[in-house]
Amino acid sequence: MATTLKVGVIGVGSISEMHLKSYRNNPNSELYAICDMNLERAKAVASQYGAAKAYSSHEEMLADPELDAVSICTWNSTHAPISIAALNAGKHVLVEKPLCMTVEEALAVQQAVRSSGRILQVGFVRRYDPNAQLLLRFAEQGEFGELYYAKASILRRLGNPGGWFADKSRSGGGPLIDIGVHVIDLCWYLMGRPKVVSVSGNAYHKLGNRSNVKGLSFYQASDYDASLNTVEDLANALIRFDNGASLYVDVSFALHIAQDESSARLFGTKGGFDVIPTLSIVTEKHDTILNVTPQVDNGGFNFEAAFQAEVDHFVDCVLGGKEPISPVEDGVEMMKILCGIYESAREGREIRFSEADGKAERA
Ligand SMILES: NC(=O)c1ccc[n+]([C@@H]2O[C@H](COP(=O)([O-])OP(=O)(O)OC[C@H]3O[C@@H](n4cnc5c(N)ncnc54)[C@H](O)[C@@H]3O)[C@@H](O)[C@H]2O)c1
Repeated sequence: MATTLKVGVIGVGSISEMHLKSYRNNPNSELYAICDMNLERAKAVASQYGAAKAYSSHEEMLADPELDAVSICTWNSTHAPISIAALNAGKHVLVEKPLCMTVEEALAVQQAVRSSGRILQVGFVRRYDPNAQLLLRFAEQGEFGELYYAKASILRRLGNPGGWFADKSRSGGGPLIDIGVHVIDLCWYLMGRPKVVSVSGNAYHKLGNRSNVKGLSFYQASDYDASLNTVEDLANALIRFDNGASLYVDVSFALHIAQDESSARLFGTKGGFDVIPTLSIVTEKHDTILNVTPQVDNGGFNFEAAFQAEVDHFVDCVLGGKEPISPVEDGVEMMKILCGIYESAREGREIRFSEADGKAERA
């Protein structure tokens, strides 16, 4: 492998900008090719970033022997097929969250990683936030004791991005798979990635996408379209792990709540902490409760720094032959959790997981 990684970015809508900028800043990578089914969009981005090639088809792009690695920033429904095609073409892969839409797809991607011997990193960007890494160092040193409960929430009152995000056949679901994945993964990662044993969830389709609301702007997909909405507007779940720990989560695209709110809190036997919205630690010393505020430049989510760290890590892993901190196996485990919650919501019962194959079985 050369010392400069030749990279292609597939899908150049909203989030691709963070990948593009981060590769441009990385001294060991070269933005070589851009692909989007919208060729004009691909060409415009290729010219903006000085990439040599622009494609409308990922198959054509992957046939280029000069290309070493790709970032996949397309709709969720294409993550598994494009990842598998890229791995089979000998390319390394950084794929946006969620890994894919089903457990079966996730296992197929895992199989392709193993048979190709190439690296696949899942874009669980919250793990790469400097504050998440700070808290992980504390957790790994035993500062919080046993982390046995976590509570995470991202409640948007008006935040259905429309377009493919609202089309279940292309997204796999609504707020649970789109934003729930961020906080479930972050809590699970900081808890030390215990094995999931069961999930119990609810998904509600009560408010629609609220595209009728006037006077408030909100995040919209690159190709916004409010005419189709087949995803839930609220989901919640209780996730149980084999070490007895549990995680409660609720997420929404639409909810009658006064303002948007986000939080992720973990509680242990010796201390606890908030990672969202702002870094803070609670502990006890000499029979006294202490609220501790770590002194960092930004206690909130460092959006740009996290993407830079994610891309830098990917480049380092590929060039150094190292295993990423967000490997395909974690993508598979997350798909078990997310799909289990949807199944639980559909069936109105708890879903338990069997040990061996990751398939859900009835409680
Ligand atoms: N990590 C994060 O914080 C974060 C934030 C937003 C989105 N995302 C993820 O990034 C991905 C893209 O989201 P987005 O907001 O950028 O969406 P977007 O709609 O803005 O952009 C998607 C782009 O992919 C292109 N595309 C779709 N299918 C394609 C295919 N088969 N071949 C080539 N191009 C194709 C579309 O034309 C579009 O330009 C999603 O998986 C989403 O979950 C992650």
